[in-house]
Amino acid sequence: MNDLQLIENALYSYIPKGATYEKNLIDSMNYSLKAGGKRIRPKLVLEFSRLCGGKDEIVLPFACALEMIHTYSLIHDDLPCMDDDDIRRGKPSNHKVYGEDIALLAGDALQSLAFSVMSSPKTVENAGAGVSCRCINILSEYCGAVGMVGGQVIDLENEGKRADLDTITEMDRKKTGALIKAGCEMGCVAAGAAEEQILAARRYGESIGIAFQIMDDILDVTSSAEQLGKPIGSDLENDKSTYVSLLGIERCREVVDELTNEAIASLSLFGGNTEPLKKLALKLAKRQN
Ligand code: IPE
Ligand code: IPE
Ligand code: MG
Ligand code: MG
Ligand code: MG
Repeated sequence: MNDLQLIENALYSYIPKGATYEKNLIDSMNYSLKAGGKRIRPKLVLEFSRLCGGKDEIVLPFACALEMIHTYSLIHDDLPCMDDDDIRRGKPSNHKVYGEDIALLAGDALQSLAFSVMSSPKTVENAGAGVSCRCINILSEYCGAVGMVGGQVIDLENEGKRADLDTITEMDRKKTGALIKAGCEMGCVAAGAAEEQILAARRYGESIGIAFQIMDDILDVTSSAEQLGKPIGSDLENDKSTYVSLLGIERCREVVDELTNEAIASLSLFGGNTEPLKKLALKLAKRQN
């Protein structure tokens, strides 16, 4: 089984089975979770855990929880009150199929499912109460007001404005970097890594997290809807402030390379095989979707 199958099998096993009134909601959760996606965040959780000597079966619930939060963030991000985008992961956006009300609630339910998975008796038995609690603390902080949700607010509040570089960096660090960083840290925590390794993973996540959003902004200009599985030109249409709108594509590519090198440098603190995470950082800096 490859990593994608490992992640997706575990992810799908957590979706509640259909009930009568909630069937539409559960179909809607299934729809977005199973629509594909690169699964970068759970992959980071697995790789950091492996680097620190952890076992896949122990860390998988945390990896899946992170992908649930990410999927919820995408469902909400596409809503008419946010970016108003009609295509996601190569299919009509959740609200286009299930309506805005159910899409909103599917996002809510995915968020609570993530915390239910991380705190379930089985997860706690395998990972230990201390590890479960720390991962819950990391993810709850990074997905909320000082993390992803806060970043989305900075994004919305700067529509139609020309935000400066510090503001855009802060926005990207939160709206995208926070969940990526959460994955890196949770992988280490679940594997029982030393505090200085957790900090190094945080630095890696911080660097590739901002680079990931800059690449997303570049692809919004240079790619095609077929390749991305989502509309292009969305940022321009919504008059968003991005690294690309401020610095232009060429300078952005240089910044992505600088951040990628910083991420790779922070791996030097680990004794194990850092090659997979080095390769992943380089691959993300050249991604086409
Ligand atoms: C898209 O994330 C949203 C951002 C934070 C830039 P991904 O590019 O990881 O989306 P999926 O999961 O592959 O669909
Ligand atoms: C997404 O930023 C950040 C999220 C928290 C979902 P974007 O709005 O640029 O993501 P896409 O381009 O719609 O995937
Ligand atoms: Mg957005
Ligand atoms: Mg968007
Ligand atoms: Mg985008």
